[in-house]
Amino acid sequence: MRNASSEILISDTFEADEGVHIPVMLDEVIYYMEPKPGDFMIDGTLGGGGHARELISRISPHGKFLGVDRDPDVVLRLNLSSPGVDVHIENANYSEIPEVMERLGFMKADGLLLDLGFSSIQLGEGKGFSFMKDEPLVMTYSPDDEPLSYALRRMSRNEIKDIIAVSGEKYAGKIADAIWSAERKHRIEMTGELVEVIRSAVPRNYEKGRIHPATRSFLAFRIFINKEFEHMEKALRSIPEILKPGGRAVIITFQSLEDRIVKERFRELAKEGKAEILTKKPIPATYEESERNPRSRSAKIRAIKII
Ligand SMILES: C[S@@+](CC[C@H](N)C(=O)[O-])C[C@H]1O[C@@H](n2cnc3c(N)ncnc32)[C@H](O)[C@@H]1O
Repeated sequence: MRNASSEILISDTFEADEGVHIPVMLDEVIYYMEPKPGDFMIDGTLGGGGHARELISRISPHGKFLGVDRDPDVVLRLNLSSPGVDVHIENANYSEIPEVMERLGFMKADGLLLDLGFSSIQLGEGKGFSFMKDEPLVMTYSPDDEPLSYALRRMSRNEIKDIIAVSGEKYAGKIADAIWSAERKHRIEMTGELVEVIRSAVPRNYEKGRIHPATRSFLAFRIFINKEFEHMEKALRSIPEILKPGGRAVIITFQSLEDRIVKERFRELAKEGKAEILTKKPIPATYEESERNPRSRSAKIRAIKII
């Protein structure tokens, strides 16, 4: 299993902006995607629809837009119809975009955006993403996926440890022991119970109080239960099937593990002669945006152009 350095950047932990999702690095997304009237753009992570709305407004008239999200609530909530654009919204995994395009009879697109992780709206929907609230221990984007509380029941200590260690958590072994023992006594059904078990396994002055003791474990469990890396890898490898020559893919990541996967897959595509890397280094949000939108503080953009 992939392991992280102890200095992994933890984002996805800000809790202040629950309920409203402000699109991250919108100017940079538009700069690298270059949407123009008549283009076919794909957003694989619709969320609150912030990036999607801007893309749709720029490809009008005669544009086509495909929006995808794994969470069926996102798809039900969003109304993105626009007079000048042929808009299609699908409840699917972004790793299945080539299959969705084939089913809908679509040709290759001009742009693809993936803005990873969960949206601030989902923090307010009882999905169990937040360690600051007591909610059912689900942590999945889709109700079709197995909730974390069920998965924990059949895991060994070592499996739990390996999952947590991915985040660079140095107390992964101790936390795994505590979770495994607690599960034997009674089922952990709520995020609040999981937080207490984690807290009991780490020193009182965990990370000198810089981050919450459950931050890394929650991130690791979310990555695991949603198979995030597997889906990312598959989606990134399929970019040449999704985009036409000249088409641009923009990926926004929020922590170093995700960014490393994007960097490696982009390098591979460039080596194979299939793509040109547009961002030699990952692009961070501006200081002004970080001040305005805490979510953008750990955001990084990488972009490629299909040759
Ligand atoms: C950070 S939000 C996107 C926010 C959006 N760009 C905006 O401007 O509002 C990420 C979204 O990706 C979705 N998501 C996460 N994993 C996914 C996957 N494997 N396939 C499709 N959607 C996924 C989540 O449900 C969430 O709605």
